[in-house]
Amino acid sequence: MNEVLKTIRNRRSIRKFTGEIISDETLKTILEAGFYAPTARNMRPTHFIVVRGSEKLSLMAEAMPNARYCTEAGTAVVVCGDREKDVDGYLTEDASAAIMNMLLAAESLGVGSLWCGVYPRDERVEFLRIMCSIPENILPVGVVLLGVPAEQKPAPELYEEEKVHFEVWEA
Ligand SMILES: Cc1cc2nc3c(=O)[nH]c(=O)nc-3n(C[C@H](O)[C@H](O)[C@H](O)COP(=O)(O)O)c2cc1C
Repeated sequence: MNEVLKTIRNRRSIRKFTGEIISDETLKTILEAGFYAPTARNMRPTHFIVVRGSEKLSLMAEAMPNARYCTEAGTAVVVCGDREKDVDGYLTEDASAAIMNMLLAAESLGVGSLWCGVYPRDERVEFLRIMCSIPENILPVGVVLLGVPAEQKPAPELYEEEKVHFEVWEA
């Protein structure tokens, strides 16, 4: 199996972190992977807000229990889409593709990561909007936590024969 396929299979959601902060260089490599994701009509609407301040991370852990691991992770990236560049309504797909690239890049670098859902949960969108002064035309779609992993999870077997259909659903 090649390295890309190994990375895809081995990536897991990490919810325990050592507290050590990943380097700026590693962060930049992961953000770069996000920018390399495909976007509809190549509109490139995705923006990243890096949150590393302990005060903001504590606020996030409190307001978004689904992302409560952020204080230990040390780095949270709010992945946003610019609505003004959303021609066809694919903004969340564009942001999600960026997130997935980031998770895989993190795995390939030995960085633990977690995708925390934001949109369409209004209370999470509004909380992030206020905390990070996000303007109305920018939609926060998800938060990616990044940090040094303090847990290891085995790669599960996830191929499901019965969910693969050829030509028509009943095939
Ligand atoms: C759109 C989306 C939103 C998610 N939101 C959260 C979240 O808010 N908190 C969390 O702990 N995990 C979240 N996850 C991670 C999933 O729970 C996780 O991917 C799933 O349980 C499979 O585990 P694995 O990533 O280790 O394969 C989210 C995943 C996706 C794709």
